Amino acid sequence: MIQVSPSLLSADFGRLASEISEVEAAGADSLHVDVMDGHYVPNITIGPLVVRAIGEAATLPFDVHLMITDPLHYAREMSGSGARGFFFHPSTVDDAHAAIGRIRALGAWVGVAINPDERAADFKEFFPEVDYVLVMTVFPGFGGQKFIESALENVRGVRSGFEGDILVDGGVSAETAGRVAAAGGNVMVAGSAVFSKADRAAAIEEIRRAGEAGR
Ligand code: DX5
Ligand code: ZN
Repeated sequence: MIQVSPSLLSADFGRLASEISEVEAAGADSLHVDVMDGHYVPNITIGPLVVRAIGEAATLPFDVHLMITDPLHYAREMSGSGARGFFFHPSTVDDAHAAIGRIRALGAWVGVAINPDERAADFKEFFPEVDYVLVMTVFPGFGGQKFIESALENVRGVRSGFEGDILVDGGVSAETAGRVAAAGGNVMVAGSAVFSKADRAAAIEEIRRAGEAGR
């Protein structure tokens, strides 16, 4: 089953609660929350206060994607928000195995995120320890970027050694979802492809259908 997880990065931040209700009513399976600190990536988005507000507005599970240099500190800060789980980039911590354990100890799911210039094979050691894996198909930092086809190799690489959910993040749309699913991705994280459309239900359904067709 293909799932669709709208990325709130492309939502109207002035009306975040109603944007959340809209995509929840439109058939989203979960929500994706992008946290950036201006250090790991050249953009700043939201912090613990807004993540807590998202937790109050959301009824669906939401995952927090930490694109920051101190994921452990902020996972701890955000752990009371209702987030289902946290993705971190292993290069941001000294000991990624320990980081996985520490995030899990907060009572959250935990996943590693793989950038387009990293290789899935180098993350294999984490697969037995994580709940899910996030494969980036753009370089992290901004919504609305062009899908990087070569990153599908990482989706295939993860799928060859991991049976859990593989979320694919960046440039995912009805046009690319089929190839994502064919490579083994089953959760489509989509920001601009959902929020740029007036009809969110149709946008989500199109992505889901394209993914199902590609499986
Ligand atoms: C990029 C973020 C993505 C982003 C996806 O750094 O991790 O979650 O919001 O946006 P789209 O779907 O527009 O590429
Ligand atoms: Zn993300």
